[in-house]
Amino acid sequence: MEQLNKYKIEFSRELNSIKSQSDLDSLQIKYLGRKGIVNSLLQSIDKLRQEERKEFGKKVNDLKTSINQLIDAIRQELLKNAGPGEFIDVSLPGKKYPRGSLHLATYAIEEISKIFQKIGFIRMSYPEVEWEHYAFDSLNMPKEHPARDDFETFFIDAPEHEKYGKMVLTPHTSSGQLREMQRVKKPPVRMINIAKCYRPNWDTSHTPMFHQFEGMVVDKEINITHLKGTIDYFAKEFFGAKREIRLRPFHFQFTEPSFEVDITCGICSGTGVTRNLQGSVKCRLCKSGWLELGGSGMIHPNVLKAVNIDPEKFSGWAFGIGVERVIMMKEDLKLDDLRIMYENDIRFLEQF
Ligand code: PHE
Repeated sequence: MEQLNKYKIEFSRELNSIKSQSDLDSLQIKYLGRKGIVNSLLQSIDKLRQEERKEFGKKVNDLKTSINQLIDAIRQELLKNAGPGEFIDVSLPGKKYPRGSLHLATYAIEEISKIFQKIGFIRMSYPEVEWEHYAFDSLNMPKEHPARDDFETFFIDAPEHEKYGKMVLTPHTSSGQLREMQRVKKPPVRMINIAKCYRPNWDTSHTPMFHQFEGMVVDKEINITHLKGTIDYFAKEFFGAKREIRLRPFHFQFTEPSFEVDITCGICSGTGVTRNLQGSVKCRLCKSGWLELGGSGMIHPNVLKAVNIDPEKFSGWAFGIGVERVIMMKEDLKLDDLRIMYENDIRFLEQF
C-alpha cells in the first residue's frame, strides 16, 4: 500500500513535467506498459495476505483507470497546442485562408496596358508631383491663361522653381506628353501613360485622387483617322465589339483641333431609349445614346515646339481618359457613387 501511494505521488509529479508527446509516450509505457509499474503492482498481489488482496487489487485498478484518463487528457491538450513539427494529424481538414485580390482600379489599369501594348504602345508612369511647367506652361497654357481654371489644382507648399514654376499634384496625365517627348528626343513616340491625378473635387462622380490613361503618338504623317481608329480599337477591346465611338468638336489649349470622345451607351446600345412595362422610356444612364469618355486632339504645334520637335515635319495626337470612368461604364458595373472605390470597404472590394 505504501508503495502504491508512493507511485501515485510520483506519477502526478512526472505528469506535471510533461512537455511533449514523446515525454507522454514514455510515461505511459513506464506506468501502463507490459513490464510497467501498474502490472508489477498487480503481480505483487501474490505476496499479500488473502484479506488484503481485494482492497489492494481495487486500488491498483483505480490507479490504472485514473492514469489512463489523465494521460488521455494531457494527450488532447498537447495535440491542441502542438507546434510545427511536433505532431501532424494528416486527417484534419486544412485551414482556409481568405483569398486577397487586387483593387479594381489595378485590374483595369492592367487590362488597359495590355490592350495598348498589343498595338505597340510603351507603358509609362510619369510623376504624381509635377512642375507647373509640365502640367500647364508647355502645354500651351501660360501663367494667367483662364484655361488653367478647368484643371483645378492642388499646389505643393514648396519654393517655386525659376524655370519650372510651382510644384503641383499633377491634375492630368497630359504632363507626361512633354516628358515622354523629351525622353525619346526624336519621334516616333507611341506611349500610354497611366498615372494618378489629383483635383480638389469630392462628389458622387469625383474623388480628389483618380487615374487617367493618356495615349500619345507622334510621327510623320499622323492624322485624326489614326486617333479615331485607336480609340475605337480600345473601346471594342475594353467594352465589347458592339460599342461605337465618335469625336465631338471641343476645345483644349494643347490640342488643335480638339475633340471630346463619346462612346455608345451600354445600357440602351446607343439608342437613348430603353423599354419597360410602360413602354419606351429615356435611357436612365445616357439620355441621348452617348456617354462621354474623355478628351483628345491633334497635338498643338506649340507643344511640339516646346520640346524641339518640328511641327512642319512631325504631327501627333493625344487623348486622356479617366480610369474610374471606364470602370463605371463597363456594362456590368453600374456604380451610383464613384467614391465607394476608395472608401476601402472590404465588402465592396472583395467582389472583384
Ligand atoms: N488632359 C485632358 C483632361 O484631363 C484630356 C486630354 C488629353 C485632352 C489629351 C486632349 C488631349 O481633361
